Amino acid sequence: MTLQNPLCTIGIIGGGQLGRMMIYRAKKLGFRFAVLDEEGAPAESLADVFIKGSLKDGRALEELALISDLMTYEIEHINTGALEGLREKGRAMHPSPAVLRIIQDKLLQKELFAQNDIPAAAFFSVDDPAAADFSKRKFPLVQKARRDGYDGRGVRVLQSAADTPLPVPSVFEDMVDIDRELAVMAARGPGGSLAVYPVVEMAFNPEHNICDTVIAPARIDEKTAAAAREIAVRVLTALDGVGVFGVELFLDRQGRVLLNEIAPRPHNSGHYTMEACVTCQFEQHIRAVAGLPLGDASLLRPAVMVNLLGQPDSAGRPVIEGLAEALKVSGLSLHLYAKREVRPFRKMGHFTVTAATQAEAIEKAEYARSILKIHGSGKRGIT
Ligand SMILES: Nc1ncnc2c1ncn2[C@@H]1O[C@H](COP(=O)(O)OP(=O)(O)OP(=O)(O)O)[C@@H](O)[C@H]1O
Ligand SMILES: [Mg+2]
Repeated sequence: MTLQNPLCTIGIIGGGQLGRMMIYRAKKLGFRFAVLDEEGAPAESLADVFIKGSLKDGRALEELALISDLMTYEIEHINTGALEGLREKGRAMHPSPAVLRIIQDKLLQKELFAQNDIPAAAFFSVDDPAAADFSKRKFPLVQKARRDGYDGRGVRVLQSAADTPLPVPSVFEDMVDIDRELAVMAARGPGGSLAVYPVVEMAFNPEHNICDTVIAPARIDEKTAAAAREIAVRVLTALDGVGVFGVELFLDRQGRVLLNEIAPRPHNSGHYTMEACVTCQFEQHIRAVAGLPLGDASLLRPAVMVNLLGQPDSAGRPVIEGLAEALKVSGLSLHLYAKREVRPFRKMGHFTVTAATQAEAIEKAEYARSILKIHGSGKRGIT
């Protein structure tokens, strides 16, 4: 298989921070990278070839395919019809468009979980929620738009039938009594080989519902961790997925582990692997899609990852407050995504602190969080 040739070109659909970090970490294996995205995308300056265009434009995708020996993607909001067309023309692509088609539709995802007896919240689907009768339903319910949701957009909690649902085809789930949110990164190769990372805890900022802290390993017992890892293996196998997948789970107050959703790519909850694991999620993804042996997913040291989001009032060019102080923290590794514009709550970068003990990693991460802020030159710029 020519794909194992390190001189081959891997085409990445999407040049956001995930594409940027994929290139940054997988270039050491000798691959070349071509990227499709809009001008100024974070991966532009690292790509060997950068194609400016929309991820939904069939022609731009075709252009990328023509110069790539193998394609992958770092975002799931892509035109699967165009990808299927490329696949039919013999273009190699992982994860497959069939996997993406399931993941793009939360109803198809949840049906796959149910067909494979994977524990998850009970659900039903409604095509036209504005016209539906919810009077006999049990509340609270969590509504999720079937398509195009991310970072909590497209999710609404309905406390009673009096609450107005989003007017789009949706899945409605029982509200889980969440003790904590967990995640597992897992990789699967074309022959079915697997590498599963440790279970981590995700903490969400209540203001905007974006995961802003990841603690690795999760502070849970071994039985719970084993259940989470088993779910990750079962869902990747059921999907016949190839690549790295982010598996989001809930631990409820009864101690049950439930699958929430999966992402067909490296994931925010796996950024810690860059400093804390033998093989990071980005190299692992490229190994998996290129058909190379998977790397060791073991944790080397406890780690805490914190997302750096634009401040609530930020606009204009990013201005970083506390940079020099934060870089003095031993064990802290800072990643900035080179985004030219800051917006409120936009993911601008992250840092990971590794330490000999989890308590030390948490303490240092909290200190760094308290001093590092990303403002914008358009508003209260701080130098
Ligand atoms: N059934 C549920 N019960 C309780 N809380 C839920 C449920 N489903 C989702 N949530 C909450 O809403 C958040 C977002 O849900 P989900 O991950 O399904 O949506 P998303 O828009 O794809 O999010 P993201 O892109 O951040 O992963 C979850 O992380 C969780 O905090
Ligand atoms: Mg989610």
